[in-house]
Amino acid sequence: MCGIIGCVGGQEASEILIEGLRRLEYRGYDSAGVAIIDNGIVQIQKVKGKIADLQKILNKLRLKGTIGIGHTRWATHGRPSELNAHPHHSKDITVVHNGIIENYRVLVPILKKKGYVCKSETDSEIICHLIQMYLDQGLKMEKAFPKALCQVRGSYALAVLYEKEPHRIYVAKNASPLVVGKGQGENFVASDIPAILNQTRTILILEDQEWGFLEKDNIRIFNLKGQPIRRSLKTIQWSLATTEKDGFRHFMLKEIYEQPMAVQNTLSGRLGNGHQRIDLPELEPLFPRKKNPFERIYIVACGTSYHAGMVGKYMMESMARIPVIVDLASEFRYRQPVLDSRCLMVVISQSGETADTLAVVQMARQKKAKIVSICNVMDSSIPRISEATLYTHAGPEIGVASTKAFTAQLVVLSLFSLFLGDLTKNLNRKDVISAIESLSKIPSQMKKILRPDAVYQRIARKYAHCPSLLYFARGINAPIALEGALKLKEISYIHAEGYAAGELKHGPIALIDEGVPVVVLIPQDEHYDKTYSNIEEVQTRGADLIALATQGDKLIPKIAKETIFIPKTQWFLSPLLFSIPIQLMAYYMADYKGTDVDQPRNLAKSVTVE
Ligand code: AGP
Repeated sequence: MCGIIGCVGGQEASEILIEGLRRLEYRGYDSAGVAIIDNGIVQIQKVKGKIADLQKILNKLRLKGTIGIGHTRWATHGRPSELNAHPHHSKDITVVHNGIIENYRVLVPILKKKGYVCKSETDSEIICHLIQMYLDQGLKMEKAFPKALCQVRGSYALAVLYEKEPHRIYVAKNASPLVVGKGQGENFVASDIPAILNQTRTILILEDQEWGFLEKDNIRIFNLKGQPIRRSLKTIQWSLATTEKDGFRHFMLKEIYEQPMAVQNTLSGRLGNGHQRIDLPELEPLFPRKKNPFERIYIVACGTSYHAGMVGKYMMESMARIPVIVDLASEFRYRQPVLDSRCLMVVISQSGETADTLAVVQMARQKKAKIVSICNVMDSSIPRISEATLYTHAGPEIGVASTKAFTAQLVVLSLFSLFLGDLTKNLNRKDVISAIESLSKIPSQMKKILRPDAVYQRIARKYAHCPSLLYFARGINAPIALEGALKLKEISYIHAEGYAAGELKHGPIALIDEGVPVVVLIPQDEHYDKTYSNIEEVQTRGADLIALATQGDKLIPKIAKETIFIPKTQWFLSPLLFSIPIQLMAYYMADYKGTDVDQPRNLAKSVTVE
């Protein structure tokens, strides 16, 4: 996720761009840049680092000009570097982009043959060259721009400068957010409203597959066929105080609600051949001639990422029939594990900086194991020393409690398992296509679960002052019981324990007494009857049951104090859907107690010390 901004009109562009980028910094902060038309010439300044570093450079240069565009980056394709920072440039065209161009790997060689060579490692740069190519073929910009947009697949929010039209900013949107602000003798464009709210409260929202241009006294919007679109203006009533969280009370809640987009972006570009094939080109060097050279797979991580790894074990062993050993990084690195070149080491880390996990990677390298990392931060320490990295594209996760990165990790593990299942021929094409179809539905199913529901406030009011809660589930959802307990502990400070339901009778059931809240995840799968028996065991001893069940289950609401439903999906995808209610339960319990949800006591977002 990145942030873009543009302005055209009366004020000095550099001040407006920097202020706007500061308000967009939460969307990404590994590099930044601006392009300003100074005396008819596009001047580009970009930096690997924060907005503050860019501002220092601009303060020295004192670029003059009232039209410009800016970008703050969260690297998705191409490591954080000055070369990969936006704006990107072709002869007359300068672009800032937020989104993922899924077919850029196809377009790059085609354009190279025509003499348009990408210099950076990014997907975004291809857009400049596509527009430039059509201009060089004699098209006017108002034809060249939409024609180029019709060639790309994927998501984009664009602001474009064309040096031969120094009074205009061209804009376009598809699946990434973009708003236009209307001022007096000046106009603005940005990824979100807070970035321009100090300049204007009058905005116009672009819809998908729309493009247009801004001049200081004119805004024109069109569809990709070039037909003009009339769009009503809106006036923003709320204040800047709620910015960056986009009106959410906490970053954590915002990130819970960003999960459909995080899943969509993590899937983007990885479902090839019309959603018939898993495309993970990063892994191909590890599986030469499409054979599996590994005897076993280790999955090692910490905290929530470890819980993702536990889910991954169920997926990989079922789909690929390769033995998988999951372990905590802090234990694995000291227990003399049997590691050699026949092992595949998969490490999972949102930050890519966790000290214990990094130490495992260094140990595995010495033992000649091959390393695949699953990370959310491009070019962080762990990816830099891995043979391959499968990035999650969840965008910056600001809340200390991991939510959208976790479900994005589960998406990557699903894709990885399907890739292995296909490679080892344990899955047939029909299985893979059916699994891809179910995966593609997850974003919309998540949106259904995210519809406002007072059940979470009811649960918070009733149980936030209990000394402890128990979570249990079976099979692939047992790790989600552990994750639910961890979420609650780390943000509400209420004690909680997660268990595999089958373990209850081996001790934990002694904890059950009148009114003890017990959260049970009970999907309609092969474990349903046994989990139902576990529910009866705790209920006869007085437990208060909070059940997470499959849409349409008529039995569970009759016995539970509260029931939260998730849509039906394939067995290996239910953890993605169950994750949302357990996150929301923890969030509302913590918010009810008034703890610091985004920065809980004693915790840090990235544990870079042992
Ligand atoms: C998750 O909610 C916690 N903040 C914590 O357990 C986290 O998952 C763990 O520290 C691992 O971090 P990483 O994914 O960045 O390696």
